[in-house]
Amino acid sequence: MCGIVGYTGTQEAAPVLLDGLKKLEYRGYDSAGIAVMEGRSIAICKVKGRIANLCEKTKDGEALPGTTGIGHTRWATHGAPTEENAHPHLSNDGRFAVVHNGIIENYMSLRDELIRSGYRFESETDTEVIVHLIERYYKGNMRDALIKTSNRLQGSYALGVICSEEPGRIYAVREASPLILGIGVGENFFASDVTALVSHTRSVIYLEDGEFAEIDADSVRVFDGAGQEIRKKISRVLWDVRAAEKGGHEHFMLKEIMEQPGAVRATVAPRIRNGEVVFEELETLIPHLENVRKIVITACGSAYYAGCAGKYALERLCRIPVEVELASELRYSDPLIDEGTLVIVISQSGETADTIAALKECRSKGAKTLAIVNVVGSTVASLADWTVYTWAGPEIAVATTKGYTTQIAVLYMLAAYIAKHLGLLQNEAALTDTLQALPRRIQQAIDMNPSIPALARKYHASKALFFIGRNTDYAVALEGALKMKEISYLHSEAYAAGELKHGTIALIEEHQPVIALCCNASIMEKTLSNIVEVKSRGAEVLALTFRSNRQIVSVADDLLFIPPVDPLFSAVIEIVPLQLLAYHVARENGCDIDKPKNLAKSVTVE
Ligand code: M6R
Repeated sequence: MCGIVGYTGTQEAAPVLLDGLKKLEYRGYDSAGIAVMEGRSIAICKVKGRIANLCEKTKDGEALPGTTGIGHTRWATHGAPTEENAHPHLSNDGRFAVVHNGIIENYMSLRDELIRSGYRFESETDTEVIVHLIERYYKGNMRDALIKTSNRLQGSYALGVICSEEPGRIYAVREASPLILGIGVGENFFASDVTALVSHTRSVIYLEDGEFAEIDADSVRVFDGAGQEIRKKISRVLWDVRAAEKGGHEHFMLKEIMEQPGAVRATVAPRIRNGEVVFEELETLIPHLENVRKIVITACGSAYYAGCAGKYALERLCRIPVEVELASELRYSDPLIDEGTLVIVISQSGETADTIAALKECRSKGAKTLAIVNVVGSTVASLADWTVYTWAGPEIAVATTKGYTTQIAVLYMLAAYIAKHLGLLQNEAALTDTLQALPRRIQQAIDMNPSIPALARKYHASKALFFIGRNTDYAVALEGALKMKEISYLHSEAYAAGELKHGTIALIEEHQPVIALCCNASIMEKTLSNIVEVKSRGAEVLALTFRSNRQIVSVADDLLFIPPVDPLFSAVIEIVPLQLLAYHVARENGCDIDKPKNLAKSVTVE
């Protein structure tokens, strides 16, 4: 939920750190700080609020000279977002500074122990115990101090550490939180995410859990938890630096909505060859398919809703029962999962704490696990038996858009792939045509709705919005409502349309907006009845449907359109006008669209 960055080289460190923190700001944005080492002295600057405040306070870094440093952008867990609680944290003797992403679960007992030993605490954070432990264990050898400190910590941590006894050197330590080293020429880096590195270097090393790195300007050495040096592979980041910039759009979210045709194409195209769905990464899954009696999809937030949408295609094509479970629930539910269960774990970031825990729980019960992940080298990807990457490129806006649609595109292809290998798939060529047409249809859904800004002006001041739909439409309604609430702060809820009259209809009053999703012909008449019911109680209905759907068009007050598409594969199209509506409502309400309040992009805490 936080972002950390480190630099050592010949450039002034502070501007490099500030630039890196701006790229990581989506991970947390309530306070920030940097520590820069000049010779043997460490200078620290911290602020409450955004990186912009830190730039101002440090005069864009000029106030902190030196060529080695570490930085942090925070999403508060332990202690309010104040300057005192912001990182870096300094040891009592001033020789060590630490930045931390993650949570130290045993910090209370460590804190008591350290206080009893005479250490003075300046903050309410769990992190501060780390810097005092390093001070306590440092006897002239940092590697030794880091190993001893790590052995005392329980929880998750990506750490950046500097020590005034070792000018020009930074340390990076990883346990259950992402951390990547950037390998430059005469300069080296670490960061929580490659987005902070690609403007400097495309050569990266993904640290694994239990590893730590000793980083100088011209060398990088990686060690395991016992202090043995290990050889690490240097990987190339393939995407272009522009992928992590706004590219002329007012917000990352808008850019990422517009990128969806390309992102879905990049995800689908390599997996369709000559009318067949091909997953090279899943060849070793095929022999297991005969034994799969149940599929469980688990994830959080929008990734969970992607699972809800994908369930229909999986069940319809594969004839295997599919359960979709929130990872935060599944992990504590002693789930009925065994060797006959295929667990599909979905995560854009691959670092969501509950998703990782659910994945581990399912593995421990003997299930086979398949991950659908966007971030290459992430924890979820490294833990699952098989990983299918969504090739969405970096997603910066906190509200996911292309992450969600590419996840569903993979689920569609997976449904076809599993069905084929079970001998159940008919007319694969027609199905692959439909999948290949998805990017085009998404573009049409963007182009067909020029009225969205005007609709946003009409609805933005509503007290609440209800989203209704049935079947596949209901799955999309869930994501539509989440998108609206998380960026516009407008109270939005999704309901299965058939459930309205079991309670929720009591909330319908004069001019209450209801967004009705009507893109599934098989249950259109039923949703139409629900529309009529709410209208007769005074609701204003904004319907999302096909232009040709005369009944809905004639009864709704306002309309959003998608092009005709098989409902089994329509979720990736249907969501697009709803994403745009949420975006424009949030814009009307003057919200901070890319960084909504209280949220962070990757939720690395429970
Ligand atoms: O990185 P993940 O896909 O695991 O993230 C899961 C959720 O935290 C995420 O989808 C969240 O709900 C988004 N803010 C929704 O836009």
